[in-house]
Amino acid sequence: MNIILLGPPGAGKGTQGARLEAERGMVQLSTGDMLRQAVADRTPVGLKAKAIMEAGELVSDAIVSALIGERLDAIGDKGAIFDGFPRTRAQAEALDLLLSERGRKLDYVIELQVDEDALVERITGRFSCANCGAPYHDRYKLPKVAGTCDVCGSHDFKRRPDDNETTVRTRMAEYRAKTAPILPYYQERGLVRKIDGMAPVEDVAASIDEILGQ
Ligand code: AP5
Repeated sequence: MNIILLGPPGAGKGTQGARLEAERGMVQLSTGDMLRQAVADRTPVGLKAKAIMEAGELVSDAIVSALIGERLDAIGDKGAIFDGFPRTRAQAEALDLLLSERGRKLDYVIELQVDEDALVERITGRFSCANCGAPYHDRYKLPKVAGTCDVCGSHDFKRRPDDNETTVRTRMAEYRAKTAPILPYYQERGLVRKIDGMAPVEDVAASIDEILGQ
């Protein structure tokens, strides 16, 4: 099964993608994670993407489509969870081609419907363990022991450079202008399922599971 998780910044795509990967043996393909890794590794792609990401704008369609193509080649016959891709009509068309070239098809586009103002708080409050990546939030999920990662015991935490309010607002504007308009492309094919992304994480998970089946 191949699915797209679609929604604005902070809608919960990464949270649900990671859960689906852990529970279903699918592979989460997050272009945001791939680009952040490229920035950290100072690859040519990372050097190009860094300033664009810090401004909250979109990296070029050609770069992200190539990243997805490479990853699809590496996951064998496992199902793919597209998280943060596609984000433009050109990327949606590129994905169709990448999938058909590999004998795959899209099963669902799951739209997480959310309230943008609430998302700003979600995003600006989040941080993660610098060692194992375990996610936390200033308000909703603090480590059980202050300053110590619940999972690996590290005392080192980090925040994304694009998780400040100004950049988040730009990221949301980009979503409204370039990503939301691709929904009809999938609606015409009957692939879109809408769920309430403002519900608690477990309820969002249950809604997704209901769509995907057991
Ligand atoms: P990317 O990394 O994809 O960021 P994003 O889309 O802005 O999404 P986020 O990761 O911020 O949010 P999310 O929906 O995954 O939410 P999460 O689960 O983390 O992209 C970053 C940048 O890379 C882009 O701005 C762009 O520059 C570039 N880029 C990436 N892909 C690109 C592409 N295809 N084309 C061009 N450029 C691209 O949750 C957020 C927080 O909320 C967490 O703290 C979480 O614990 C919490 N939370 C989640 N669900 C719930 C819930 N139900 N209730 C309460 N809290 C919740």
